[in-house]
Amino acid sequence: MIRIGILGSGRGSNCRAILQSIRDGKLNAKATVVISDVLDAPILEIAREFGVANAYLPPGHFRTRLEPKVEAQLVKMLQDAEVELVVLAGFMRVLKEQMLAAFPRRIVNIHPSLLPKFPGLEAWKQALAANEKWTGVTVHYVDEKIDHGDIIAQRRIPVMSDDTPESLHARIQEVEHVLYPEALERVFRKLRGS
Ligand code: GRF
Repeated sequence: MIRIGILGSGRGSNCRAILQSIRDGKLNAKATVVISDVLDAPILEIAREFGVANAYLPPGHFRTRLEPKVEAQLVKMLQDAEVELVVLAGFMRVLKEQMLAAFPRRIVNIHPSLLPKFPGLEAWKQALAANEKWTGVTVHYVDEKIDHGDIIAQRRIPVMSDDTPESLHARIQEVEHVLYPEALERVFRKLRGS
């Protein structure tokens, strides 16, 4: 059983899929904490619904990352919760040296494109704008670059000629909810073996 900590800033639909997979016995893990940088993020409500400890972490005055002293606090909160693997589920801030050093190759992320294509925000809109026939979902280890790092799992999704940003995004999210638990199981096997 691997202890995970989930970080997110928003809706938390991936967090829900992961917590549900654990509840259903499909994922051999325990979520020991859910942390958000957004006070009223639905992801915190989802944690409460599943009886998982949760916390709001005021991010400080930077827009795209945590203040260094806040990142140190985050490391401590995750360590206190005995987290072995950090799972990013829509966490909208870039993690820096302190987190990467505390959890080397132990932070994973999900991104709504076939990386290395379309890193960054609203990747499904980028795929539509580029007239791609296919896009997809990537689960990857987190490194110091944005939406970059060794790929754990990918799934292709066709772009339909009548897709809107909303319809494509919805289809991508459906796939995310299946792929993320599957990819986590793969990571757990590696962690158990190491
Ligand atoms: C997902 O689409 C994920 O790919 C991206 O952020 C989104 C989070 O959605 N990194 P949710 O909060 O899990 O619903």
